[in-house]
Amino acid sequence: MIEAAAYTVIAPDVQSADGCRVWAFTVIGSGVVMGARCVVGSHSYIGRETVMGDDVRIQSLVFLPNRTRLGARVFIGPGVVMTDDKHPRVNHPDYDAQPPIIDDDVSIGAGAVILPGIHLYAGCMVGAGAIVTHDVPAGETWAGLPAKRLHRWPTPPIGGGWLTRTRGTP
Ligand SMILES: CC(C)(COP(=O)(O)OP(=O)(O)OC[C@H]1O[C@@H](n2cnc3c(N)ncnc32)[C@H](O)[C@@H]1OP(=O)(O)O)[C@@H](O)C(=O)NCCC(=O)NCCS
Repeated sequence: MIEAAAYTVIAPDVQSADGCRVWAFTVIGSGVVMGARCVVGSHSYIGRETVMGDDVRIQSLVFLPNRTRLGARVFIGPGVVMTDDKHPRVNHPDYDAQPPIIDDDVSIGAGAVILPGIHLYAGCMVGAGAIVTHDVPAGETWAGLPAKRLHRWPTPPIGGGWLTRTRGTP
């Protein structure tokens, strides 16, 4: 069940567990699956068949391409853009979308850009304004343009998931 603010567009086949909220002017595409208590801020776009675990927090002005995979307790800061097409061309005959995979307990700072096919492993942190061009290992903090490792978190994240997902599994 989704509690939706005015001016949202939520496809009729979206599935959601209890306690989800979507704020104004956000679009949730066809086939999206939302876990329990997920919150999506205003002016965001959630691509078709995106899957999110429980307790995901997506701030305003976020773009997620089709089939993005989000684990549980993922935090996505305002203005984050994820991508799925490394060499975008209109009507590209060999178009092969590579949505990102975001594991449990990952946090992404404001305005970060995640390039196609990137895997952010469990509990990692991406700094504000980063351009992420390589996978980020579990528990590490990366930032900058292009993003590089700053350090490992001293303690496991709240929730302690540390689970990883592989491409193709929800
Ligand atoms: C990346 C981040 C988690 C690092 O925090 P931290 O571990 O406390 O690191 P520090 O502040 O001690 O900074 C360590 C170094 O990294 C640099 N740094 C910190 N954040 C950075 C960023 N986003 N991009 C580039 N460099 C960054 C600092 O300048 C510092 O460099 P210096 O040692 O040369 O001075 C944090 O700065 C960040 O970007 N958080 C996201 C905030 C956000 O967008 N929140 C959204 C909710 S509003």
